[in-house]
Amino acid sequence: MNKSFLRRGFLWLCPGFVLIGTVAAQQNDRPSPTADTFSRDGQLYVGVDYYPEHWPKERRETDVLLMKEAGFNVVRLAEFSWVWLEPSEGTYRFEWLDEVLALLERHGMKAILGTPTAVMPAWVARKYPETLAMQSNGQRYTWGSRKDYSLSSGTYRLLSERITRAMAEHFAETPNVIGWQTDNEFAGPQDFSETSRIDFQDWLRRKYGTLETFNQSWGTHFWGHIIRDWAEITIPDCTGEGMWGISGNPSACLDWRRFNSWINYRFQADQVKILRAGNPDWFITHNLMGLNPTISYYELGRDLDFVSWDNYPVLSRSSQPYAASMTADLMRGVKQKNFWIMEQTAGPLGWGIFTDTPMPGEIRKISYQQLAHGADAQIWFRWRTATAGREQYWHGLLGHDGRPLRRYREAAQVAHEYRRLEKMLEGTTVEAEVAIIYDYETIWSLASQPGYAGNNYARAIARYYNALFRAGINVDLISPEVDLSGYKLVLAPHLVILPDARARKLIAFVEQGGVLLTDIRTGVKDENNLAHERTLPGLLSDVLGIEIEEYGALDDRSYPVFSEELFPDTLAAIHYVDWVTPKSAAVMARYDQWHLEPFAAVTRHEAGRGIAWYVGTVFQEDSFYDHLIDRLLEDAGVERWVDLPEGVEASIRQGDGRKLVFLINHNETEASVAIEPGKRDLLEGEVLGDRVMLGPYGVAVIAW
Ligand code: GAL
Repeated sequence: MNKSFLRRGFLWLCPGFVLIGTVAAQQNDRPSPTADTFSRDGQLYVGVDYYPEHWPKERRETDVLLMKEAGFNVVRLAEFSWVWLEPSEGTYRFEWLDEVLALLERHGMKAILGTPTAVMPAWVARKYPETLAMQSNGQRYTWGSRKDYSLSSGTYRLLSERITRAMAEHFAETPNVIGWQTDNEFAGPQDFSETSRIDFQDWLRRKYGTLETFNQSWGTHFWGHIIRDWAEITIPDCTGEGMWGISGNPSACLDWRRFNSWINYRFQADQVKILRAGNPDWFITHNLMGLNPTISYYELGRDLDFVSWDNYPVLSRSSQPYAASMTADLMRGVKQKNFWIMEQTAGPLGWGIFTDTPMPGEIRKISYQQLAHGADAQIWFRWRTATAGREQYWHGLLGHDGRPLRRYREAAQVAHEYRRLEKMLEGTTVEAEVAIIYDYETIWSLASQPGYAGNNYARAIARYYNALFRAGINVDLISPEVDLSGYKLVLAPHLVILPDARARKLIAFVEQGGVLLTDIRTGVKDENNLAHERTLPGLLSDVLGIEIEEYGALDDRSYPVFSEELFPDTLAAIHYVDWVTPKSAAVMARYDQWHLEPFAAVTRHEAGRGIAWYVGTVFQEDSFYDHLIDRLLEDAGVERWVDLPEGVEASIRQGDGRKLVFLINHNETEASVAIEPGKRDLLEGEVLGDRVMLGPYGVAVIAW
C-alpha cells in the first residue's frame, strides 16, 4: 500500500473533497512514481550518514549547523549502535539518540534510523555464542567484525526483534523520524552450523513436500546420492573453482543459495512487521549493494516501500560510467519504481589502501548520474571521516579534521541545485521501452558452473547494456517475472536457467510483436538446475528459427566472423561458440572456418508479429554490440534521439507531462552534445542553442 498516496488522499475522506478525490483517482489510477520517495512537501532528500556517537557531544551543534548550511534535510543514524542503545540485555538507553533527534528537529532536519542488528554487541556473542555463524571448517566466527551473525539462530532473531521493537516503540512519536533502514547491506555469511542445517532441511521439506519430489528435483540418482530421510541432507560444498568446479550437486547448490537469500528475507520480514506496527506512516527501506550476487533483491525488496543502494563508483573508475548506471537501472527494476541512494562516494575510499579522491566535480556528477536514473534521495557516506576503527581511510565529506572544505562545498552545491530542480522532478521516473532480464537464479547457477572459463553474468549483460548506454537509450533491468508487454525490445542474455513457463513467456512476447534478443547458454537448464533434455535452444527453437547441436569453449582460440548485414569489418568470436544451424532464421553473421562454415554466428527470425535474434558467441569487439543494438532498435521502432560523444551519458526522466533530459560528462575533458535548439537548461536557467557544452564532469538538466 502506498502510504504517501494515502496521506495525500486523506482529505478525500472529508465530504467536501470526495468529488475532487474521485476525479483525481480516475485521471490517474497509478500512484505518482515519487509518492514514496519524495518528502511530503515535495522536497528531494539530501544528506549524510551521521555517527554522532563517535564524537564529543559538544560537536553536534556545529555538525548540524554545517549540514543545514549545506542545504541538507536528512540524516541516517544508528545502524551500528546496538550497544549504545542496549548496553546490556534488556537495559535500553535512548537518551543520546533522543537528544540528537531533537537537535536535528530544531534545525528542520529529518532522520532515518537503522535497525542496529548488523553488529551484535559483545555481550550478545559472549552470552549466546550460538548467535555467531559457523564457518565451513566448523569454527564459529570470532566476534569483532560485523555481519557475523547466524540468521538461523532463534536467539539472534529474538534479540533482534527485541531491540527493533524497543526502538519502534520508543521512537513511534518522534516527529522527525520518517523511516527505517533494516540492518545494513544484507548478505550475511553462509552458516555451516547444525542449526542452519536443520533450517535448510525444513526449508527443503516445505518446498518439495515429499522425498520423491526432492530426489527427482536434485537428480540424486547421480553418484547414488539418494536421500531417504530429510535429516540425511547436508549443506552442500559449493565453493569449488576451475575445471572441476563445485564438489556439491549443482541442484543442491542452487537451493542452498536460494535458502541463503531467503533467510535474509525472513530476518528482515521479522523487523518489518514490528516497524509497521510501530508507526504505519514510516517508510521502510534497505541499503542494497548493487550487483551483489548473493541475495535476490527482488525477494528482499518485496516487503520494502522502496529500495536504496550504496554507490561507490570511484572504487572502479575505469568501469565507470557504465557500471553505476547499469546498477541504478537494476535498483529501479527491483520494485519498478524510483529508489534512494543511502551511501555514496564522498572522498577517497579504502580500508587498507585508498583510492584516488573524487576529482573536482566528480561528487556532483556521481549524484546527478543517479538522479538521472531515478534516485530520489542522495545521502553521502559519511559526514566526517572516522578517526578510529577499520574505516579510518573511507573518507567522508569532512576529513578527520572536521573542516567543511572542497568535498563538503561540492555536496552543498548539489543540495542547493536539487532545491531548484525538485518541482520539476516530482512525479517523474525513467520510462524505458527496452528491458534486460536480470535473473538471480542464473547468477547462482553460474556461480557453481560458469560453463566456460572466465564467464560472468554481469559481464554477459553489460556487453549489451553498455551498447545501449552508448546509444543514449533508457533501459530497465527487470526480473524474469515482470510483464513484458510494455516493452518494445527485450534482451535476455545468457539465461541459463529457463523454466518452461519463462520460455513460453518469451515466445508470447515475440508472437505479440516484441523484439527479443537472446544468446549463448540460454535455456540450458530448468528451475532445478537440471539440464533440459531437448536439443538447444529447447522451447525457444521455433521462435528463434535455429537449432544448436554442439557447442564448446574456445579457450585461447578465436574465429573470424563476417557479416554483410550487420558490420563492415571482420570481427572475432572468442570464449565460446554455439554451432548454430539456421532452420528458418536469416543468417546475420557467419564463420568461414573449416568445420564452422555451415553454422551461423548471429541469426534473425521473424516469428508471429515480432522478431527474435540469437547471438551464438561472444564478440571481442564492442563495435559488434553497437551495430547489433542499432539494428535491434530499428527492428523494435525505438527512436535514437541523441548522438553522444564517448564518455557522455544521456538519460530521461518523465511524468506529469514533463520530460527532463540529463546529460552527464564522465570525462575529465570538455564535451559537447548536439541537441534541438530552444530547450531550457534548468541548472543554468538559460535557453540553449544547438549544442550543450559540458565541462569536465559537467552535467546538464534540460527541460525537453
Ligand atoms: C558500506 C557499508 C558502510 C561502510 C562502507 C565503507 O558497504 O554499508 O557501513 O562500511 O561500506 O566500507
